[in-house]
Parts: sequence; C-alpha cells; structure tokens
Amino acid sequence: MKVSKRHGSYGFDAPWALLGLVLGAVALLGLAAVSFALGIVAAGLAFLGGALYTLASAASYVYTTRRGRFAVWAQELARLRGDERLLDLGCGTGAVLLLAAERLDLGRATGVDRWRAQHQPGDSEPVARANAVAEGVSERVELVAGDLRDLPFGDEAFDVVVSSQAVHKIPEAEGRDKAVSEAYRVLRPGGLMLIADFQHTPDYEETLRGLGVVDVRRRDAGWRFWYGGPWSGTGILEARKPGGGSAVAGAGTEAVKPAG
Ligand SMILES: C[S@@+](CC[C@H](N)C(=O)[O-])C[C@H]1O[C@@H](n2cnc3c(N)ncnc32)[C@H](O)[C@@H]1O
Repeated sequence: MKVSKRHGSYGFDAPWALLGLVLGAVALLGLAAVSFALGIVAAGLAFLGGALYTLASAASYVYTTRRGRFAVWAQELARLRGDERLLDLGCGTGAVLLLAAERLDLGRATGVDRWRAQHQPGDSEPVARANAVAEGVSERVELVAGDLRDLPFGDEAFDVVVSSQAVHKIPEAEGRDKAVSEAYRVLRPGGLMLIADFQHTPDYEETLRGLGVVDVRRRDAGWRFWYGGPWSGTGILEARKPGGGSAVAGAGTEAVKPAG
C-alpha cells in the first residue's frame, strides 16, 4: 500500500531504544576490533556478527518509525468509507490520526492524548496541530486532551476507534483494561476497533471478549512494524462491536492469522 508523502514531523518512536541499539553496535564493533588486534579471531568474528545483527536491528527500527508503521496503517485504513467519525487513542503527534483524516473527506478524526513528553519527545498538542495543518486536514481534525482510562466522550460516539502503540504505555494491567473498556464504550454498535501494540494484545482481546465481543481477532502486523526485529513486532487487534450495521467495509486486506 502506497503511503501519501508525509509533510508533518512525527519524530522517532522511543528514540532512546534506537540509541541503545546504535551504541550497542558500536561497542560490539570495538570489541571485535580489539579481539582481532589480539589475534583472537573466533571472538572477533562473534563480536562482528553481533555488531552486524545489532546494526540490522537499528535499521529495522528506523524503517518502521519513518515508513513501515505508516504503510501498515495506510493498509488498515484503506477500508474506511470516508464519512466515519474516527477516534485515535493516544494520538501523539498524529501519525495515524492524520493518515486517517486524509481518507475522511466527509468524516471527522478526533485524537485524544494526555501529551506527556516522557512517552515520546516532541509529543505535544501544538505539534499535532501543526502536523494537521502541514498535512492539509486540520478542518477535519479535533484534538482533545484526556486520559485513555476515562475518555471525555459520550457512549457510542464513534464509528471507528484506532490506537497505535499507546495502550501499552499505561503501566498497570487494570489501567489498560479500563482503556480498552472505554474504547468499547465510545464505539457505536457495529463499529470497528483496531489496536496496534507491541505488547498485551492478547489481554485486550480477553477484555473485549469479557464485554461480549465475539467478532475479535489478532494478527501479526509483519516486518514493516518491527522495532528492531521479530522479537519486538507489533500485533493488531481487530474487533467489531456487536449490534448495529457495519460502520466500515469488511475485514482487512491482509490474511488473518493469529498473533503471538
Ligand atoms: C508511543 S506514543 C504513540 C503515539 C501515536 N499513536 C503514534 O503512533 O505515533 C504513545 C502515546 O500514548 C499517550 N498516552 C499514554 N498513556 C496515556 C493515557 N493514559 N492517556 C492518554 N494518552 C496516553 C502518550 O502521551 C503518547 O502520545
């Protein structure tokens, strides 16, 4: 799925993790150089292999944060009709929110976040607003300050609820459970929920099943959403709230397969 050129500034997801990978690779290269200088060839080769693997992980991280996550979400959002009321939970600087807004020529995209920069440097409402202007969709976008565990919206206010790499930021399982329950509350019957997260998606499924959702599945978002490698890939949870008509077109275009 081709992603339209991004004009906003979305930064790097958790840049300290990327820095850790780069520093790790440099340290391993140093150890390899020392080992070769001392004539310990086997250790040198092992350190060199580790350095190359760590560099490849850093490259994967950069790709995902700059391009891959946009490509995955563009594919997920391709099913929107264009007239939906969509909510992005933990929208940050608007990476997913504004991609969705581009498709909502007759709809509305609302982003909710509490914008505390410890989760993401540069993460602020003014940056999200500036990005909405840069992408040319500001008239369809609303930004609301709020906590995912206590959403400032009425019941069944949205046709589609999405979230990307945000719910896992809530440290306690009880809080994440509350966030998923709130997402369910504000979704209209027949509405679609899509949550991409690199942790806890099985728990989100369990919460939704406990709320009576039967149409719920998880899949692996694939290599384009790896933060360094398959060991930190992203799962996508897709659910449809029982009742009502379908808010958007049917299931995603990717083959549905269980995520770990
Ligand atoms: C890693 S960022 C992801 C941002 C955006 N979804 C993206 O994909 O670029 C996680 C976001 O979740 C927000 N967040 C975390 N816990 C939250 C909470 N309890 N209520 C509201 N927002 C929260 C953070 O402020 C941050 O903007």
